[in-house]
Amino acid sequence: MRMYDIIDKKKYKKKLSDEEISFVVEGYTKGSIPDYQMAAFLMAVWCNGMDEEETLSLTMAMAHSGDMLDLSMIPGTKVDKHSTGGVGDKTTLSVGPIIASLGIPMAKMSGRGLGHTGGTIDKLDSIPGFSSDISDERFIEIVKTVGFCDAAQTKDLAPADKKIYALRDVTATVDDYSLIASSIMSKKIASGADAILLDVKCGNGAFMQDRESALKLAECMMNIGKLAGRKVNCMITDMNEPLGKTVGNSIEVIEAIDLLKYGFDSHKVDKRYSDIVLYVCRELVLMSDVFKDEKYNDMTEEERMNEAEILVRGAVDSGRALEKMKEFIAAEGGDSNVVNDESLLPEAEFKYEVTFDRDGFLEGVDTKEVGMASLILGAGRLKKEDDIDPAAGIRLLKHLGDEVKRGETFAYLYTNKKESIEEAKQRLLKAYRVSKESNSTKNVIIDILRQQ
Ligand code: URA
Repeated sequence: MRMYDIIDKKKYKKKLSDEEISFVVEGYTKGSIPDYQMAAFLMAVWCNGMDEEETLSLTMAMAHSGDMLDLSMIPGTKVDKHSTGGVGDKTTLSVGPIIASLGIPMAKMSGRGLGHTGGTIDKLDSIPGFSSDISDERFIEIVKTVGFCDAAQTKDLAPADKKIYALRDVTATVDDYSLIASSIMSKKIASGADAILLDVKCGNGAFMQDRESALKLAECMMNIGKLAGRKVNCMITDMNEPLGKTVGNSIEVIEAIDLLKYGFDSHKVDKRYSDIVLYVCRELVLMSDVFKDEKYNDMTEEERMNEAEILVRGAVDSGRALEKMKEFIAAEGGDSNVVNDESLLPEAEFKYEVTFDRDGFLEGVDTKEVGMASLILGAGRLKKEDDIDPAAGIRLLKHLGDEVKRGETFAYLYTNKKESIEEAKQRLLKAYRVSKESNSTKNVIIDILRQQ
């Protein structure tokens, strides 16, 4: 087989075989196919697309390019969740302990933040002592004993995706459905869970800008899941404003803990955030073994959904989920006292109040810009190798649709870099559009798609 012939075939919109796709992935990962040929191949795929079979071949070749985690020694259906990324998305931090406290094993590998998007591992690493860098054996042991583990993706997990993604990033070939779907699904399949819930973010802070493209990506990933023998369901959720009240790392950990502490309906908890956590948990319960017993056979779908919601609410209201959060933090080496005492988490030296300069109603926000303002304060990274400041970030006091008055506090900026405050403030204020009249706000849950 020659790489030249494979590129030529894709250039003329011909279908590639499983062997040809494996040849490309293996060759590029090992270094026998150079960047220039792979770049030409990716552009041919971007222009001419891949069908379902080709996309599955690509996914499986990337998944098998490194370690495949075997979770079979953990009894029952192992669940996982994944978000396609956004601003202020700390959902996993609340969901993991809730799900584990219901006796459902959740085995999750997460990534770090890049550009305007945050990463769960950065948020967890802000907890003193916490280490997300753990061996596969320890990962399995924690899922077995605690019920939830969240570890950083190792370099041996789908290494082909890592190399190909870096090349896509500099050759304008990131935004292709088959390439995105196979990239996400290769990592999920290699991570070993049986049932995966994908939260496909949609809006101006996300990869997918509108509902149609989010649905197309969701369907593509569900199809890969089905062909690969994994249960995959999807939620499409709104990312036309940051999720919750905080954007950063330690401040997002506090917000996630607060949900477990005060409950879904507390005025101290952001409604859009609690809605997402509730729905993600409900869907994970439905995908788990909870209703597997024969006695549930007669239950309607609606009854199952109601029952699942009761279980999820019960886990939080009883305090079991909060206890599980402590257990999970301690298992990964962190100081579990942060759950009772937030002052143990990194705190920024400078806190700056941002007031609004106009009267009106918040009509729209450039969510990416809020992520970038947080990055400027130190909470994010432009390049993979950049350091982040766990204490930096933004607390937002207003949502879209809310009334704002000139001179009223609208956000707090946290940073250890005093010189970053002015730029972050200007970018934050510029990101918001204000109108004279109140507009209706969007529901955070847009669609739920379940595999038949
Ligand atoms: N996230 C991934 O892991 N891969 C992509 O291609 C896009 C988003």
